[in-house]
Amino acid sequence: MKVILLNGSPKSKGCTYTALKIIEKELINEGIEVKFYEVGNKPVIGCIGCNGCRKLGKCIHNDLVNEVSKEMESADGFIVGSPVHYASASGAATSFLDRLFYSTDKNYLRHMFGASIISCRRGGASAAFDQLNKYFTINEMPIVSSVYWNQIHGNTPEEVVQDLEGVRTMKVLARNMAYLIKCKEAAKNVPLPELVPVERTNFIR
Ligand SMILES: Cc1cc2nc3c(=O)[nH]c(=O)nc-3n(C[C@H](O)[C@H](O)[C@H](O)COP(=O)(O)O)c2cc1C
Repeated sequence: MKVILLNGSPKSKGCTYTALKIIEKELINEGIEVKFYEVGNKPVIGCIGCNGCRKLGKCIHNDLVNEVSKEMESADGFIVGSPVHYASASGAATSFLDRLFYSTDKNYLRHMFGASIISCRRGGASAAFDQLNKYFTINEMPIVSSVYWNQIHGNTPEEVVQDLEGVRTMKVLARNMAYLIKCKEAAKNVPLPELVPVERTNFIR
């Protein structure tokens, strides 16, 4: 049972990292393996819509996106964290996730549990939270929830750990994720829902 944690902040050891580390500790306590990735502080190239991944089976830009995508093939859960940048997820997180979700085989995403967490100084967390959850709902990924919209406040890691309600939200999220993964594991003899044939319309036909 494995969960991927992705820090979508360009700042390593910042606020988002601190929140994800709270989650990591809880998951490990619950016996879940964790793989921790960071988008890093270099520019992250965005999706150029070339559809090269359809032919290659991976993104044409051979960077960390492909590494995480490969790891997703055997993951049970995926949690992305992002700081709020102008009431949205960070540009780095968005560029990374656009390519990750566009290029990863949808069969691996189907029924993998997903969750997002947001760190911010003050406002825009729920808008960024909605944005990130959309990667899951288009991919048949059940979203794991907590006791609030998963946000934690602070401008520094020291401030983040003082947001006790935010810390609790992170802990509950991690425990819920672990519980649901274990439930799925226990139910592995239950047949998956039958596939419905693909239909693609674009509103003019
Ligand atoms: C470009 C930029 C835009 C930001 N926009 C917001 C914002 O709209 N609302 C907010 O509360 N904080 C905003 N912040 C502050 C960060 O969201 C906040 O400090 C966050 O906790 C930083 O997380 P990190 O250390 O993981 O990068 C912004 C920071 C940057 C660098």
